[in-house]
Amino acid sequence: MKIVLIGYMGSGKSAVGKQLASKLQIPFKDLDNEIEILEGNSIPQIFSDKGEIYFRKKEREILTDILTIEKNLVLATGGGTPCYSDVINLLISDKDVITIYLATSLDTLTDRIFNEKFNRPLISHLTTKEELKEFIAKHLFERSQFYNQALYTLRTDSFTIEEVVNEIILKLN
Ligand code: S3P
Repeated sequence: MKIVLIGYMGSGKSAVGKQLASKLQIPFKDLDNEIEILEGNSIPQIFSDKGEIYFRKKEREILTDILTIEKNLVLATGGGTPCYSDVINLLISDKDVITIYLATSLDTLTDRIFNEKFNRPLISHLTTKEELKEFIAKHLFERSQFYNQALYTLRTDSFTIEEVVNEIILKLN
C-alpha cells in the first residue's frame, strides 16, 4: 500500500503522514526531505541556485524513484508536486497508490504558514498576512483542479492530527 498525501503548503501532509505511517507500521517519507538529502541542499537554496524548473524536474524524478522502489509507504508530497507535468496522472493511474487530498481552508492555511513562510520560497517575499492570503486564494484556486483528482479528500480544519489519521484509516478499511 502506497499512500500519497497531497495538498497545499500548511495542510498538514508531513505531520499527518508521520502519524499515519507509524499507526500503519509502514515507512514514512517526506518528498521535500528526500530532495534535500539527494541534492545536498535546502529547498530555498535549490530554488535560488538552480531555479524552480530544476526543482520541479528533480521533484518528479525523485517521486517516481520512490514509488518504484518502495512497496509500502506513506509519502508526504510538496504542495506543488501534483500540479506540474504529468504527476497527478502518474499518481492516480498507479493502482498501488492511494492519493489523499488534505483540504484546508484559506484562513487556516494563512494562519499556519504566515510564521513559516521563510522556508517556502514561493511565499517568502510576501510581507503582510493580507498579501499572503490573497496569494494563497489565487494559488489554491489554480491548484484545486489537481488536488481534486485525489481518490479521497479530507477536510482538516477543525480536526486534530490524530483525528485526521483515524479518518484516513477508516477510509482505507
Ligand atoms: C511548494 C511546497 C513546499 C516545497 C516547495 C514548493 C509548493 O512543500 O515543495 O517550497 O509549490 O507548494 P510544503 O507543501 O511541504 O511546504
